[in-house]
Amino acid sequence: PKLIVVNRAGEESTVEVGDGLTVMEAIRDNGFDELLALCGGCCSCATCHIHVDPEFKDKLPAISEDEDDLLESSDHRNENSRLSCQVPFSAELDGLKVTIAPED
Ligand code: FES
Repeated sequence: PKLIVVNRAGEESTVEVGDGLTVMEAIRDNGFDELLALCGGCCSCATCHIHVDPEFKDKLPAISEDEDDLLESSDHRNENSRLSCQVPFSAELDGLKVTIAPED
């Protein structure tokens, strides 16, 4: 399945994602170093913040309390905000487009 990533410069790239990865891992493994993901996916740093295509929002797992708290600390939260380490990628999400949120 494919994931479309828009970087902070607004450039769009399509990456092929293997099984069992989170969206954070898929982005990081494809060399987008502006997604820091400092905590490595433990839901404690909020540096993996993305904005997701609203069309896919219903297919994503619900936001946990921890994720919600962390997103609240960002100046760039909007209704499409997620922490990408909390979103497992799957064939169901083929074609999902995510935008790396501006740095806080
Ligand atoms: Fe730290 Fe997602 S990588 S919260």
